Amino acid sequence: MRTQVGIVGAGPAGLLLSHLLHLRGIESVVLEARNRSDIESTIRAGVLEQGTMDLLNEAGLGARMQAEGAVHHGFELAFEGQRRRIALTELTGHSITVYAQHEVIKDLVAARVAADAALKFGVSDVSLHDFESGGTSRPRIRYAHEGDRHELECDFIVGCDGSQGVARGSMPQAQRHDYQRIYPFGWFGILVEAPPSSNELIYARHDRGFALISTRSPTVQRMYFQCDPKDSADAWSDDRIWAELHARVDTHDGWQITEGRIFQKNIVGMRSFVSTPMQSGKLFLAGDAAHIVPPTGAKGMNLAVSDVRVLTAALRAFYEEGTNDQLDRYTETALKRVWRAEHFSWWMTRMLHKLDDTSPFEQRLQVAELEHVTTSHAAATALAENYVGSVAV
Ligand code: DHB
Repeated sequence: MRTQVGIVGAGPAGLLLSHLLHLRGIESVVLEARNRSDIESTIRAGVLEQGTMDLLNEAGLGARMQAEGAVHHGFELAFEGQRRRIALTELTGHSITVYAQHEVIKDLVAARVAADAALKFGVSDVSLHDFESGGTSRPRIRYAHEGDRHELECDFIVGCDGSQGVARGSMPQAQRHDYQRIYPFGWFGILVEAPPSSNELIYARHDRGFALISTRSPTVQRMYFQCDPKDSADAWSDDRIWAELHARVDTHDGWQITEGRIFQKNIVGMRSFVSTPMQSGKLFLAGDAAHIVPPTGAKGMNLAVSDVRVLTAALRAFYEEGTNDQLDRYTETALKRVWRAEHFSWWMTRMLHKLDDTSPFEQRLQVAELEHVTTSHAAATALAENYVGSVAV
């Protein structure tokens, strides 16, 4: 079997890349280890930057996002018993849309299936070969599917298989530099049957730890609170969860979050990670395969989309104009936005979470910083530009 671009992984990066290449007449095959219903139901974050929305719309993928997603023009920072608004649209001219990642996945899978794309679920034993430059043979992906072994020959391989995938591990180790920070806390996430507590997202800093009030629809809400990453979701009764959320988010004027039936609980760990370079010969990495951000600020999927935008343009230049320079500069171009988002996610995390070594002095600094970003027009604008993704890189 042969194709132009062999893509490992059917997450947002792999599916979007395959779709954008298809729109430009470039052929691809997508190989995914999990099955379709798994990838369409895994709960992840849900904030799309304006640039992500625009790209999905331009690619003809925006119909359901426009109908079901909620456009937000601001969010709130809660601290010291009060809430202060960051007016995203007033400050930047841009907004965000709250639309869950697995809904984006469903839209992408539907579009690929409608175009009769080569999209294979449930593949195993994936290995990558002959992608180093200088070799005489073409890159190949070997894999097993439905009991048979296959080999896919391609011009390029793109690893979109996440932080635990095979692609990053296949890159030559000698020239690699990895950068990492593991945080000593996680997020406890719940899905709740209830009306929204507020019109906009609330990021709360409290001496007990961070909390976030987000939404999924008029009847389903998403909430998170900082926890021990080794804790077990079952150890938390509903009463204990509500007591913790009220303690961290309710304000001094009597406003309270709205409770409801909790129907899903999970705990996610948090880390910052960047693996460089993002390419080697004819193998390229995109999304979580190359970098991870902590969830604060919801940059993960937006960064995957930004990698794919850069890579699609580079592959188009290769196939239509016969030029290699955009492909050669992929890592350099993509990493600018990656490091901006790494810094922003780390900064938001540090400003809002109870850190292991947060002394009373550091706690006061967090509050001083929150006062500053909610009082100074310049500081609020910098925060808002990063949040909506319009910041210059
Ligand atoms: C959500 C997740 C985030 O990490 C965030 O910063 C905002 C919202 C969410 O899942 O809704």
